Amino acid sequence: MKDKPTVALITGASSGIGEGVAWRLARDPGTRLILVARRGDRLRELARRLPCEATWVAADLTEPDAPGRLLAHAEEHHPPLNLLVNNAGASWRSTFADGGHANVRRTMEINFDAVLRLTEVFLPMLRSAAPSSIVNIASTAGRISRAGAGAYSASKYALIGWSDGLHLEEAPNGVHVGLVLPGYIETEGFPASELTSNPLTRWMVSDTSKAAEAVYETAVLGKAERYVPRPYGLVAVLKVIAPSLIRRAMSGGAGKLATTSTGADAAEKAEKTRT
Ligand SMILES: NC(=O)c1ccc[n+]([C@@H]2O[C@H](COP(=O)([O-])OP(=O)(O)OC[C@H]3O[C@@H](n4cnc5c(N)ncnc54)[C@H](OP(=O)(O)O)[C@@H]3O)[C@@H](O)[C@H]2O)c1
Repeated sequence: MKDKPTVALITGASSGIGEGVAWRLARDPGTRLILVARRGDRLRELARRLPCEATWVAADLTEPDAPGRLLAHAEEHHPPLNLLVNNAGASWRSTFADGGHANVRRTMEINFDAVLRLTEVFLPMLRSAAPSSIVNIASTAGRISRAGAGAYSASKYALIGWSDGLHLEEAPNGVHVGLVLPGYIETEGFPASELTSNPLTRWMVSDTSKAAEAVYETAVLGKAERYVPRPYGLVAVLKVIAPSLIRRAMSGGAGKLATTSTGADAAEKAEKTRT
C-alpha cells in the first residue's frame, strides 16, 4: 500500500482517534477520504478543513441499511477503497449484575457486529484494490479486563480474535488486516479525567496524534498490531505469563482507578436528567 495514494473510509471520524486518523492520512499526496459517523455537521466541517479530497456520510453504523448506503456512496464518488479503518466505538460502564445481557449486546452491536457488517460489504472492493488494508481499532481492554468494563472488553476481545483469523484468510488476496490497541487516549468518548486530573497518573494518558500514527503504520506499512503507547504491550504480556498478578493488580483501588468513566455514560446520564 506504501506506493499508491490512499483511498480510505474512516468510521467514527467526527471526533477523537478517527478525526486524528483523517488528519494523518490527509498529509500524503493524493489521499481521498470518506468520513463516517452520526454527527453530520462535524463531518461536513472536517471534510471542508482537511487538505485532501473528502466526502462524508452521516450514518448510525448499527442500523441495518448503513453498510449498503456506505458502499453505494463509495462506488458513486470514489475510486475503489484500499483502506477501511473500523474505528467507531463506545463503552457504557456497568457491572454484569447491573447492565446484564442488554449492556453487552449494545456494546457488541457497535464495537463488533457493526465492524463485521461493514467489512463484509467492502471486502470485495478491498480485494479488487489490493494491496489494501483493514485496520481495526481494538483496545488494551481487548487483552485485559476491568470490573465495570466487561462488556467493552468482550467486544474488543472478540474484535481481536476475529481480526487475526481474517488476516490469515485475506493475506493471500492482498488484503492486510491490522490491529491498533490504544491504552488511554484523551477523547470525548474516553476523557480519562480521573487520570488526567491527577499529576501522578497524567502520564498514563496519551493523545490522538499517537493513535493516528499507529493506524498509519498499521495500514500503510503493514504492521500486524500496535499498542498506543507502546509500553501497554507489556501489560498484555504479563496477562499471559502472570494472570494472577494482573487479577490482583486489577482488584481494589488500582482497578477502580483504571475503569475511567466514559462519554457514553455522561450522554446517558444527561438524557435521563432531561426526561
Ligand atoms: N480513547 C481511548 O482511550 C481508547 C482506548 C482504547 C480504544 N479506543 C477505541 O478507539 C475508538 C475511537 O474512540 P475515541 O476514543 O476516539 O472516542 P470518540 O471520540 O467518542 O469517538 C468515537 C467515534 O465513534 C462514533 N460512533 C459512536 N457510535 C456510533 C454509531 N452507532 N454509528 C456511527 N458512529 C458512531 C462517534 O461519532 P458520532 O457520535 O458522531 O456518531 C465518534 O466519532 C473506539 O473504538 C474506542 O473503543 C479508545
